[in-house]
Amino acid sequence: MQILDGKLVSGAIKEQLALKVAELKAQGKKTPHLAAILVGNNGASETYVASKVKSCAEIGYNSTLLRFEDTISEKHLLDHINMLNENPDIDGILVQLPLPKHINEELVINTIDPSKDVDGFHPMNVGKMVSGLPAFIPATPYGIMLMLEHYGIDTKGKHAVVIGRSHIVGTPVSILLSRNTNPGNCTVTLCHSHTKNLKELCLQADIVVAAIGRPEFVTGDMVKEGAIVIDVGINRLPDASKKSGFRLAGDVKFDEVAPRCSYITPVPGGVGPMTIAALLKNTYHAAIGQKGNQN
Ligand code: GUN
Repeated sequence: MQILDGKLVSGAIKEQLALKVAELKAQGKKTPHLAAILVGNNGASETYVASKVKSCAEIGYNSTLLRFEDTISEKHLLDHINMLNENPDIDGILVQLPLPKHINEELVINTIDPSKDVDGFHPMNVGKMVSGLPAFIPATPYGIMLMLEHYGIDTKGKHAVVIGRSHIVGTPVSILLSRNTNPGNCTVTLCHSHTKNLKELCLQADIVVAAIGRPEFVTGDMVKEGAIVIDVGINRLPDASKKSGFRLAGDVKFDEVAPRCSYITPVPGGVGPMTIAALLKNTYHAAIGQKGNQN
């Protein structure tokens, strides 16, 4: 069993990007600039956004964090997005989700200029991705593909079972794994809350992608010997022994599943850091005017 080390791989990607940014600067070209919008005080969202902003600084990008109370009106938020759309110094815009209930997420996403939509959530980018055209690919699925690529994992012809059909992870990763690319060329089964024979399907999987947001949902008896397991879950479980008051648990019961796997991502230190590396890659492409990735 080999651990897929997201911290290591994301570190390597960040180093490459830092060199590329230094080159841009040496050529007198603009420094990539990411704008992040955070609404409210969701603890997990605060951590993710802080990590994104910190990573920008580490590799020499500029970043702007716009923070709003959860009482902000939808109109006020849309006005800010429009200002960022029109600001030529801003290359990438991300609005951390979820948003408060009174704000229409779809409207917010649709307001972001698709050429600055480094989260790849705008329907224009989703449509292009599905069509196999250059597009910004959502960071978590893109990070998973970069991880598979880094470790040279042969996915061709494999049966991938994706658990969870969210727009952020499950649906796009199912599309990326099924495309005629490397990694890719999988036969994909996308499971969700109405799937009847989940355990049987998982047992047939060469690759399991767990993206349901339920702590330790995938147990040892659901995974076949030699499977590749990608754990997307970052669940906070109360733990009085920790200073923070919680511990992180993935969607996979690691201790049971890991001994059965050929490869597995840990939580933390697996998919999480890869998401950030992928976002930074998207932002670089936005800054050099390349509308997303080439495959
Ligand atoms: N919330 C959970 N994952 C993500 C993500 O990748 N991007 C944004 N903007 N919000 C999220």
